[in-house]
Amino acid sequence: MSEKTAQINAGSEFPGRVAFLDGRGDLPMIEVSTRWSNAEIYLHGAHVTHFKRKDESPLLFLSQCSRFAEDNPIRGGVPVIFPWFGPREGLGQHGFARVKSWELKEFASAPDGSVSVRFRLPESPDAAAFPPFAADYVVTVSQSLALHLIITNLSKDRDFVFENCLHTYFAVGDVTAISISGLQGMNYLDKVTSFLEKTETSDAIRIASEVDRIYLNTTGTVEIKDPRLGRRIRIDKEGSASTVVWNPWVAKSQQMSDFGNEEYEQMVCVESGNVASNSLTLAPGASSSLKVILSSETLK
Ligand code: BG6
Repeated sequence: MSEKTAQINAGSEFPGRVAFLDGRGDLPMIEVSTRWSNAEIYLHGAHVTHFKRKDESPLLFLSQCSRFAEDNPIRGGVPVIFPWFGPREGLGQHGFARVKSWELKEFASAPDGSVSVRFRLPESPDAAAFPPFAADYVVTVSQSLALHLIITNLSKDRDFVFENCLHTYFAVGDVTAISISGLQGMNYLDKVTSFLEKTETSDAIRIASEVDRIYLNTTGTVEIKDPRLGRRIRIDKEGSASTVVWNPWVAKSQQMSDFGNEEYEQMVCVESGNVASNSLTLAPGASSSLKVILSSETLK
C-alpha cells in the first residue's frame, strides 16, 4: 500500500488525519492523528498497536520481538480475540480474528475532532464450523481510545455460541509497582493453578509472579494505578462480563519467541470480554456489542 493521507475534517471543527502506510512486515497500517492523540492500526487483526496521548507516554505495550507477518498474531497492542478464547483442540489459540486481514469499511470524524475507523472481518474457511455471522469493529481515537466489537448472527435457524475478548496490553513503568482495582470480591479461574476457582480479596492487586486469571461476572470499571509512570489507566466497558489479568513473568517470557525475556516488567494485560462460563449465545438475527473505553489521567 503506497502512502496516502486524508484530512477528514468535513463537517468537523477540528481536523483529524488518517494516513495509509506500509507498516512493519509490509503489512498495511493506518495512522490516525487527532488534536489529542495518535494511534496506529493494522488491517492484520484490525489490531491497534499504538495509542499515545500527546501529553503522555504510550498507553499500549508492543513487544520489540513481535512478529508482523501473515498468520501470526502481533504481540502487544489490542489483539481482537474471537470466536474463541484460549486453546481449542486442533485449532489455534484465541480464535482466528487476530490473524486475518480485516476489511477497512470507512473512516469518519465527529465535530469534536475524534476519528473512527470501521473494519469488518472477511469471510474465511475458518468460520465454516460456525453459523454465518458478521463481525464489525470500530476504533475511535480521541483523548481516549474506544473499541467496539459488534457480532451479528446471520443464521436463520442456528444459535451462535462464541467467546470474545479485547486482549489489551498496557504499558507500565514497573509491573511490580502497579496496583489493579475494581475486581475485589469477584470469583476468578486461576490458570496458574489449573483453573482453581478463587475469590479476589484485594482492591489493589499486586503482581509479583506469573498471573493468569479469568475474573467472571465482572462488568464494572477496572483501574491500573502506575506510580512509576505517574498515571492511572481506566478501563470502562459495556457488554463484557469477564476480565482477564495476565502477566507471563520470568519463565513464560523466556518460552515465548515473540516476547523479550525482560519485557514482562513493562506490561500487564487487562482484557475485557466474554469468556469461559461468560461465553455468549446469539439467537438467529441477534447482535452483541462489546465496548471498551481506555482512558488515563495523571496521578495526583
Ligand atoms: C491470555 C491467556 O489471555 O493470553 C494466557 O489468559 C495466554 O493464558 C495469553 O498465555 C497469551 O496468549 P497468546 O496466544 O497470545 O500467547
